[in-house]
Amino acid sequence: MTRQLRKAVIPVAGLGTRFLPATKAMPKEMLPVVDKPLIQYAVEEARAAGIEQFCMITGRGKTAIIDHFDVAYELAATLRERGKTEALAMLATISLPPGSIATVRQQVPLGLGHAIWCARAFIGEDPFAILLPDDLVLGETPCLAQLADAFRETGGNLVAVTDVPPEQTHRYGILDVGAESGRLVTVKGLVEKPDPAVAPSTLAIIGRYVLLPEVIGHLAQTARGAGGEVQLTDAMARMIGGSPFHGVRFEGRRFDCGDKAGFLEAQIAFALRHPDIAPQVRALLRSYAEDGV
Ligand code: G1P
Repeated sequence: MTRQLRKAVIPVAGLGTRFLPATKAMPKEMLPVVDKPLIQYAVEEARAAGIEQFCMITGRGKTAIIDHFDVAYELAATLRERGKTEALAMLATISLPPGSIATVRQQVPLGLGHAIWCARAFIGEDPFAILLPDDLVLGETPCLAQLADAFRETGGNLVAVTDVPPEQTHRYGILDVGAESGRLVTVKGLVEKPDPAVAPSTLAIIGRYVLLPEVIGHLAQTARGAGGEVQLTDAMARMIGGSPFHGVRFEGRRFDCGDKAGFLEAQIAFALRHPDIAPQVRALLRSYAEDGV
C-alpha cells in the first residue's frame, strides 16, 4: 500500500444551472477563464502537485470534458500543415498520458459525498485528492501542491480553508477550529452549510481536499444531510479523532467560479496576468472606471 499522493477525483457531474443558458448543451467545467476551460486549470493544478491518475465523476452530456484531454488528431494535423508550431506544442501539453484518466458516472444527483463514493474502486487503498473545478485559486504555489506538502508532514486528512464573511457560512463546510500551528489548523469538528447563528467559526472549506481512503467506508454509512444530499463533510466529520485532520490556510486568492460575479472576477484577475492581453485589459478597466459605463 502506497501512502504517496498520486490519485485525484474530480467531480464534474453537476448540472451548472446557475450558468444557464450557457450550460444548456455544454458542461459548466468547459467554461473558459480567459482562454482555458475550468477543468484544465484543475487538472494542471493536480499535475503540479504530483497527481498521475485521474478519475472524473461525470454525468450525461459531459463527454466534452474527456475529449478535451484526448489527442485531437485532425486538429493537430491541420495545425502542422499550416505551420502553427506554437499552437501544436500547446495542444500536446493538454492530453493526458494513456491510461491516466478514468471516468465513472454518477447516475443520480445525490450530492458530493455520493459522487466521491462512486470513485471507490479507483481510490482503493490509496490517499487521494479531490478538486472541485468551480473553485479556482491563483497563487505562487498551486493550492493542491500546498496540501500535498502538508500531507507529507501530517500523513492525514486535509482540507484547504479560508475565512469567509459571517453571513456566508451557509454556503460552505465550516470548521470547528482547534490548535493552530503556522498554516495548519487542527479540525475539531465540521458542519455542512450552517446558519451564521450556529456556525462554529467562519473558516470555510474550499474545493481542495486530501483524504485517506477510509472516508469511503464512512460515506457508505452517511445518511443524507444538508439539502437532502449525501455530504462529504458529514463523512469527513466521522474521521476526526481517528487519523490526523487539518485545515490548511492556503496562500493565494480563491475565486468562486460557480457564481456569476466570482466567475467574472476570475476573468479579470487571470486576464490581468495574461501576457498577451494584460496591458489592453488594464487600459480597458481604467477607461470603464473613469467613464462609469
Ligand atoms: C461543496 C462542499 C462544501 C464546500 C464547497 C467548496 O459545496 O459541500 O463543504 O465548502 O463545496 O466550494 P457546494 O459548493 O457543492 O454546494
